[in-house]
Amino acid sequence: MSVAASRQVCAECGRVFAEIDPRLRCECGGLLELRHDQTGETGAALRALFDGRRGAAHGPFLSGVWRYREMVLPTAGDDVVTYPEGNTPLLRRPAVTAWAGATDLWLKHEGHNPTGSFKDRGMTVGLTHARRLGATAVACASTGNTGASLGAYAALAGLPALAFVPKGRVALGKLMQLVAYGVRTLLVRGDFDACQELAHASSAQLGVYILNSINPFRLEGQKTIVLELLQQLDWKAPDWIVVPAGNLGNTASFGKALAEARDWGLISKLPRIAAVQAEGAAPFALSYREGFARRHRVEPRTVATAIRIGNPASWERAVRAIRETDGVVTTVTDADMLEAKALIDAAGVGCEPASAASVAGTRRLIREGIIGAGERVVAVLTGHLLKDPESVTRYHQETEPAPPGANRPIEIEPRLADVERVLRKR
Ligand code: F0G
Repeated sequence: MSVAASRQVCAECGRVFAEIDPRLRCECGGLLELRHDQTGETGAALRALFDGRRGAAHGPFLSGVWRYREMVLPTAGDDVVTYPEGNTPLLRRPAVTAWAGATDLWLKHEGHNPTGSFKDRGMTVGLTHARRLGATAVACASTGNTGASLGAYAALAGLPALAFVPKGRVALGKLMQLVAYGVRTLLVRGDFDACQELAHASSAQLGVYILNSINPFRLEGQKTIVLELLQQLDWKAPDWIVVPAGNLGNTASFGKALAEARDWGLISKLPRIAAVQAEGAAPFALSYREGFARRHRVEPRTVATAIRIGNPASWERAVRAIRETDGVVTTVTDADMLEAKALIDAAGVGCEPASAASVAGTRRLIREGIIGAGERVVAVLTGHLLKDPESVTRYHQETEPAPPGANRPIEIEPRLADVERVLRKR
């Protein structure tokens, strides 16, 4: 067996760069992606290798990212910046299945990662690589989750972190994490797209390593959402994987994960990807309806701050993911997203608003006959309930008239009679 090697390849023009080349774009403007040599096991032997690492007591295989290291970053060895992360549950909840009109719906809950979102899977790889490069500081633009994750992993790696976030448009739980983990937090008077442009423009002058999702090492980590759910289903591919879509990093990395899982013999059938955008922030869905003839940029509007993005970065890579998996792109209204969220929350699962787009999108696609009612669907929940406490209070306590699932707290005097009166009402 030869030593595993990796390189970076421009997704646009195919130009090849060394694995340790720190640039994030090719001279042609294209984004880079990693290619790993297939030097060892494939097919059943590779499945057995990954299965054998489950339940490791110590070391990098405790992580649900590094368990798949041959497909993530084979050259990293054991010296990785890991919390550990991943190993998130794959759940079935009858109430959610019934609401979506599905029969075989699974929820992959990425909110169970250490900082409460899927971003940790990318950050463990991103910070591991930043350290290999000798970076002295790391930075990102963020709607909150990326910055929170960056903060925790930068702390683990002992590096200073900087985040550009849109002022007044970051959910409370995320803003608190940024501050608590010691991130130098810049509240930019503009939207996420402005933050993203500013972060990229300033990275050269500031000499910081950018860990936005255009960073190809982050996407390698995010692939393990797919690898792990396939493993949890005993390597039997579902018919659909449904994912909320904002900056399109996940959509892109899911496509890459699935193509590689097929090429490396882990699965024999390719699931279809359904990317779901908020109706008011849906440039990718708009373009999909035109056969991806041109790129769109919109003024984003949605209650789901995580995916309030008008000019997504991983565009071309995501187009390829949709095309290669015979995927679809759809939209959901804020009202449908919040209804799905209330249901997911009341089922005891809980998620942040953007995450519920996957379940609301599943319902829409089943109603439209695009997803067959009997097909197996995995909907990805991207972030934890506690990320956005304000959206919960708004829905349950403040919205007038009360939405169907509103759970209004009841104020009483400290008297048994008041308790009895309330309980009798049910
Ligand atoms: N769900 C959540 C909870 C997110 O935080 C994000 C993105 C997405 C979905 C969309 O994923 O960008 O890969 O299409 N959050 C980024 C951030 C933009 O800065 O935290 P995507």
